[in-house]
Amino acid sequence: MSDPLRIGVLVSGRGSNLQAVLDAIAAGSLNARVAVVISDTPAAPALDRARAAGAPVHVLPTGKYRSRLTDAAEVECVECLRDHDVQLVFLAGFMRILHETLLDAFAGAIINIHPSLLPAFPGLDAQRQALDYGVKLAGATVHFVDAGIDAGPIIAQRVVPVMPGDDRDSLADRILIQEHMLVVEALQLFAAGRVHLRGRQVVIEEDQSTAATSGSRSTT
Ligand code: GRF
Repeated sequence: MSDPLRIGVLVSGRGSNLQAVLDAIAAGSLNARVAVVISDTPAAPALDRARAAGAPVHVLPTGKYRSRLTDAAEVECVECLRDHDVQLVFLAGFMRILHETLLDAFAGAIINIHPSLLPAFPGLDAQRQALDYGVKLAGATVHFVDAGIDAGPIIAQRVVPVMPGDDRDSLADRILIQEHMLVVEALQLFAAGRVHLRGRQVVIEEDQSTAATSGSRSTT
């Protein structure tokens, strides 16, 4: 098996997606290592989850903007990710928009989880947006991060039904269960070197171990 994928996780809050990743690694179902967890929020519960799992943590200065990091904080973030030999950056509920410093330093190597079927409902409170619109299917998306808001090439999605009587929280809970499985699946694709970006298209290579099995089955 190849060396574990070194993931840098950026968080702002609860950290349930981070926990799903940590749990999958501990269970042996994800060939990765959380090399560092970086937060813009000193009190983020996600940091406690990281510490409990023995992952290094780093807190960035809050700075003067709400929706982005300062240039200096982006530089600090890049240095921290490089210091920990991070190969892939995972935004797990990181509430700030990334700018050139980070995007250029980790071009093609930053992914995000978003609680909607993109390109529908980008931005804040996607679950509320979905309910207000009246869609019957909602879901979650893992995508590459570019300079747009929730706009980069899509890697994988999962769908959930919107049920009669759903409110924002019940829908969010149903989506979150799928998010946790989706992020682990997507990260394992990266760990196995099976994700390739061609222009805007994300190409997922066939799993060679399964391909070999199904190939031999078809000849018997
Ligand atoms: C998730 O719903 C994720 O899709 C969105 O932010 C939320 C983070 O939740 N980007 P958690 O911090 O991982 O629990």
